[in-house]
Amino acid sequence: MKTASDIIVEALAGLTPRIALVLGSGLGGLVAAVEKAVHIPYSRLPGFPQSGVSGHAGEIVAGTIGGKAVLLLSGRIHYYEKGDAAAMRPVLEILTGLGIEKLILTNAAGSLREDLPPGSVMLIEDHINFSGTNPLIGEESDARFVGMTSAYDADICAAISGAAAAEGIEIGRGVYMWFSGPSFETPAEIRMARTMGADAVGMSTVPEVILARFMGLSVAACSVITNYGAGMTGGELSHAETKDMAPIGGQKLQAILTRAVGELG
Ligand code: HPA
Repeated sequence: MKTASDIIVEALAGLTPRIALVLGSGLGGLVAAVEKAVHIPYSRLPGFPQSGVSGHAGEIVAGTIGGKAVLLLSGRIHYYEKGDAAAMRPVLEILTGLGIEKLILTNAAGSLREDLPPGSVMLIEDHINFSGTNPLIGEESDARFVGMTSAYDADICAAISGAAAAEGIEIGRGVYMWFSGPSFETPAEIRMARTMGADAVGMSTVPEVILARFMGLSVAACSVITNYGAGMTGGELSHAETKDMAPIGGQKLQAILTRAVGELG
C-alpha cells in the first residue's frame, strides 16, 4: 500500500519544496497565492490526522509562491481534538522526510494588548506553554531535551518583518501563550496571562514549534488577531467570530508571507 509520503511525492511531480506553511483557522486564503497548485486532500493520505474543526480545509496545497517551491498545510489537528499533544508529529515527520527545512506556522489568536486590535498581525517571538502537557512526553531518546532558547528562527523572523515593512503593513511582535482549549479563557485567566508576560493567547502552534525544533526544522510563527481576550471587552467569545475575523488580518498576513517566502534562502 502507498504511504502518505509516497502519494505526496507522486503528486509533487518533481517539485522539491524546502518551506512549509501551516494555515490556521480561517487563514486558508494564502492558498490563492500558490501558482501551479496541486491539491491533495488529507482524506487521500493514509494515517494523516484530519481536523474536525470548521474553518480548516484539510488539504495539502503545493506549488510555487514568488517562484519558490512551497508546501501548504491548509488545516491542522489540535491537542483539544483528541487529547494528543503530539497529534501533528506524524505530519511533521512526513514533511521532514520530504526535505522540508523551514516551517512557518499561522494561527488565529486573542489579543491581550490594546495596540494589537482585531485585524492585526503579530510575529511570535517567544511562547509560554500553559497547557500542562508537551508533545515530547513519552519520547525516549535524549533528543527530547530540546533547547527552546532560540526556538523562533531569527532569519525567518527577519524575512517576515522585512516583508511586512516592504508591504507597508504594521506587524506587532510578542509572546503567544498556549491554552489547551477548546473552551475560551476566563477573564481571570486573561488577566493572569497578561501579568505573566503574554501578548496573545491561542490553542495551537506551540506543540508544533516544540516538535519542529525536536526534528531540527527552522521555525517561525505568526498570529492573526481575531478578538481581544475574554473580559477585555463586553461581549462573549465564539468560534464564529474567529472564523469571521481571521480573513481580515489574514489578508495582511497573506501579503507578508507571500513576499517573505520569495525572499527566504
Ligand atoms: N483564545 C484562544 N484561542 C483563540 C482566541 C482566544 O481569545 N481567539 C482565537 N483563537
